[in-house]
Amino acid sequence: MVKVVVLGAAGGIGQPLSLLLKTNPVVTGLSLYDIVNAPGVAVDLSHINTPAKVEGFLPPNEGLKQALTGAEIVVIPAGVPRKPGMTRDDLFKINAGIVRDLATGIATTAPKAFVLVISNPVNSTVPIVVEVFKKHGVFDPKRIFGVTTLDVVRASTFAAEALQEPSLASKLVVPVIGGHSGVTILPIFSQAQPPLPASFLENKETLEAITHRVRYGGDEVVKAKDGAGSATLSMAYAGATFVEKVVRAVSGEKNIVAPTFVYLESDAAGGAVIKQELGTDVPYFSVNVELGPSGVEKILPIGKVTAYEKSLFAGALSELETNIKTGVSFIDGAK
Ligand code: NAD
Ligand code: LMR
Repeated sequence: MVKVVVLGAAGGIGQPLSLLLKTNPVVTGLSLYDIVNAPGVAVDLSHINTPAKVEGFLPPNEGLKQALTGAEIVVIPAGVPRKPGMTRDDLFKINAGIVRDLATGIATTAPKAFVLVISNPVNSTVPIVVEVFKKHGVFDPKRIFGVTTLDVVRASTFAAEALQEPSLASKLVVPVIGGHSGVTILPIFSQAQPPLPASFLENKETLEAITHRVRYGGDEVVKAKDGAGSATLSMAYAGATFVEKVVRAVSGEKNIVAPTFVYLESDAAGGAVIKQELGTDVPYFSVNVELGPSGVEKILPIGKVTAYEKSLFAGALSELETNIKTGVSFIDGAK
């Protein structure tokens, strides 16, 4: 029995994500908000014979407030996507303001909601949401998540492809840690479950190629779409997968583990361990977390990694620190 709100619901991600959420029988309310076309998408989805009551809202006239009232989970895929030649950081100029304004709406109308941030650059937009929540005195680090699930989905798909075992893709779980852009994306193939064969893990060329493919999987889609945007359908699938985990955890199911970009200075156990493992004071990192009824219950340690995987950490951390500062100072500097 959960009300989910999608902000940016009429977009390339927003529409298929809303469709997948409408087909989830435990979602009982689905509220769609966008600056265009949200009521049309809502009426369309409302004809599907599943329980969720679907409503669509537009600005002005308090559309955002109406959409967010009673929200338990808010997913944010609002904002512009990349075109060929752009980095995710190039989106900051436009998306930072969009995310700030939506976060302000959530902080004032649904401060207890779980907030799932998809809008790029995730490494900076999550700190923006956190700073807005801090400003409003409603920040709970257990409830704000950067959605990095697509990196995990890609790692399984690409590894299964490389092994020429298509049926492995849906069973294979590869932790992907760090952040969500280029060098900050750190796939940890050595910890895959079920374990990958030594012939895969010890072949430097294969490993480097597949690590690169996961890190730059987004560019593959941007190039193929040739100016028409970035990943939308695979992202909708990944986003719906993550929402499903949050819903199950909120409903009391135990042992729900999900990878996500979180605030490490959380009162949930485990953030300090990650900092120790990394040997640095980075405030956010994407890691596996255990979810519970109040959000992040436990931040799980990174654990044992190979020398090759470890060699990628320094570059990731330095880029991540810059991205995080950019997000924080967008709100902090605006005092
Ligand atoms: P899109 O342009 O197709 O859709 C974005 C939607 O946001 C549009 O419908 C637009 O009207 C809406 N929007 C813009 N400003 C808004 C506002 N102030 N309030 C509400 N809605 C607003 O883009 P898309 O392909 O759906 O991508 C959306 C974002 O998701 C991009 O920033 C993209 O980079 C990001 N993304 C993230 C991941 C990830 O793994 N985290 C994956 C893919 C895409
Ligand atoms: C992705 O990983 O596909 C998204 O972050 C979109 C992008 O810009 O690559």
